[in-house]
Amino acid sequence: MTGIKELLLSRIRDVADYPEPGVMFKDITPLLADPAAFTALTDALAEIVGNTGATKIVGLEARGFILGAPVAVRAGVGFIPVRKAGKLPGATLSQAYDLEYGSAEIEVHAEDLSSGDRVLVIDDVLATGGTAEASIQLIRRAGAQVAGLAVLMELGFLGGRTRLEPALAGAPLESLLTV
Ligand code: PRP
Repeated sequence: MTGIKELLLSRIRDVADYPEPGVMFKDITPLLADPAAFTALTDALAEIVGNTGATKIVGLEARGFILGAPVAVRAGVGFIPVRKAGKLPGATLSQAYDLEYGSAEIEVHAEDLSSGDRVLVIDDVLATGGTAEASIQLIRRAGAQVAGLAVLMELGFLGGRTRLEPALAGAPLESLLTV
């Protein structure tokens, strides 16, 4: 795994002061542009699907779509998009959550999740954990089981892992990199 971690880390670009002063943005576009790195990432996440026994993947807009979709294909499970409010055409479940300033809302098509499903959430970055927490709440409200959360990168200093403990209720949080 060490080789994979080094490969992935070497393809993530730090961008200072984006999107605002004082923030170091983790840009994964170099990783996506490198087929060896993107394949290694997809394989590592697909292994987590197998380990957790997940039967569906929820990907979080927008970068969770880019990572989650190839993993779903590789693992042979369905892909369900969780979108920002107002983007899905059918009947939705919505979940609001707090941001540092203000709030946000995410949605899923109600018909996409049901009680027989075991769902792994995939995203690129775990920061404060607010987005992931809201997605877990959506999955539970749909009556489905949460198989876990898998992210490429966890920003450890923001405490998202601790915040998510109650919501995950023992389900695993797998991060391939911690920075
Ligand atoms: C980023 C990231 C995660 C979320 C993590 O997405 O891709 O989804 O923030 O932050 P949190 O743990 O503090 O909730 P963003 O909201 O920037 O959306 P985007 O991918 O559509 O740009």
